[in-house]
Amino acid sequence: MTKISETAFLVNYLRSKNKELSGDIYSDLWIEETTSELAEEFQREINPLESYQLSLRHRFFLEWVKKAIAQGVERVINVGAGFSTYTHLVEPPIPTCDVDYQHIVAYKAQKLKEFETKKLIPHREIVFLPTDLNNSKSLDKMKEQLKKWVITEKSLAILEGITYYLNKQQLDRVFNVLSKIQSKGSLIAVLYWKPDAIDNSVFKKWIPFAKKNYSYDPTGYTYLTKGYFEELDGYHIVDFATYFDLEKRFAKNNRIRKNNDNVFPEDFVVLEKVR
Ligand SMILES: C[S@@+](CC[C@H](N)C(=O)[O-])C[C@H]1O[C@@H](n2cnc3c(N)ncnc32)[C@H](O)[C@@H]1O
Repeated sequence: MTKISETAFLVNYLRSKNKELSGDIYSDLWIEETTSELAEEFQREINPLESYQLSLRHRFFLEWVKKAIAQGVERVINVGAGFSTYTHLVEPPIPTCDVDYQHIVAYKAQKLKEFETKKLIPHREIVFLPTDLNNSKSLDKMKEQLKKWVITEKSLAILEGITYYLNKQQLDRVFNVLSKIQSKGSLIAVLYWKPDAIDNSVFKKWIPFAKKNYSYDPTGYTYLTKGYFEELDGYHIVDFATYFDLEKRFAKNNRIRKNNDNVFPEDFVVLEKVR
């Protein structure tokens, strides 16, 4: 049994250390003490730039949510949502569907109610779809539910920190489901790992850490290439970025090397449905 879902606590904790950059003003709400120690160890021993990197990553998706709304998108489908709360961070809010494991969506739904009652967070319209994306039947069910939720409206699907956890066949199916339910003008914003990630020094340190703390072997990740997205039927690429690019977009620092070899080598792509 892996503990992949616990990475949602980890990324949230590290994001909370850099709210100005990430824009995630609610990240403090999801901090758990046990995760904090592990996250600190992770940042100290594996990747000193992790909080910075995760904040750039969140900012990328947040800016795309805003841009999508400005382009007439009316629904967000957050796949592998964890504790990200984009609809809470934008005005006007956008109806959102969170897809994640049953225990994560149940925990999140209950906590959001608590936070709302305590007036720590505003109310938002969120539909929770408990799904195991690596399970075909569960994915079929998600497709049927999404079809009813997104009718003709343009949507933005977010895949932040999830593609590599899915086996390739299921990941292909996720994109297939999206292409079936999305209308023309809809968007998909994705973060993915390339096959050469395995040569990256930060990634090499991450392998034993993930095995020990998450019972998970990152060498089994599913990798993708830009070419994969170029060939997705019915979509074209409207944005592409590395962390080096994101630093130029959102921060005035110079911490990330051009070839991204001092950070996790994740790339970002945004696709628009053209037919
Ligand atoms: C690294 S976290 C990212 C969370 C969030 N997107 C973010 O960036 O803050 C990965 C998320 O994917 C979810 N996840 C991983 N494998 C999954 C699967 N097979 N089905 C559904 N959710 C999954 C985990 O539960 C977790 O919430």
